[in-house]
Amino acid sequence: MMKNKDGKAHVKVFRFDPTQDKKPKYQTYDVPLEGSVLDALQYIYEHYDSSLAFRFGCSGASYERCGACSVVVNGQPALTCRRLVERAMTVEPHPKFQVIRDLVVDFDKEQKTGKKITSSVKISIDLDKCTACRDCVLLCPVKVFEIRKVGSKGKAVATDPASCCGQTCKQCATFCTNGAIRLTSVKK
Ligand code: SF4
Ligand code: SF4
Ligand code: FES
Repeated sequence: MMKNKDGKAHVKVFRFDPTQDKKPKYQTYDVPLEGSVLDALQYIYEHYDSSLAFRFGCSGASYERCGACSVVVNGQPALTCRRLVERAMTVEPHPKFQVIRDLVVDFDKEQKTGKKITSSVKISIDLDKCTACRDCVLLCPVKVFEIRKVGSKGKAVATDPASCCGQTCKQCATFCTNGAIRLTSVKK
């Protein structure tokens, strides 16, 4: 990986404790320019501030991903365990969900913030192949899909594609048994 002059990544992190703070703030930390965004958060936790709240589970070790680490990095949703550190990064909670603290959200409580995010992928669904099994609905950590009536049948529809964590996740495309979902990377 290319390193910047000081070999550091500058990571701006969203901080907010709704029980104490009137409004969110951002704090910037220097971390090694290597590894994943999750590595960077763990570095911050271990070396600067153990009050930083963030989630992870599987750490992205296999192709089955828990999705607990979904956040937004530089305006694009991503899984921290699979997104590589960049020289300058802003890491924020996924705005679709209510913040519990810092980067930790309640995936069961959706909110409308109006904050604009764009996915790094385009989602295509081959409706002829979709059997409305709901696997993608259940697997998606950020609730991108719904089953809706299309013509006379139920089909998967990407009702919130902007929230998709893209190639860092790929759970829907990997596990759709009918191969109905395709993710195509888009340039920012
Ligand atoms: S997993 Fe595939 S077949 Fe099942 S609902 Fe989603 S797109 Fe359709
Ligand atoms: S890749 Fe698929 S499962 Fe993962 S966040 Fe995007 S739509 Fe959801
Ligand atoms: S920690 Fe499980 S997907 Fe990132």
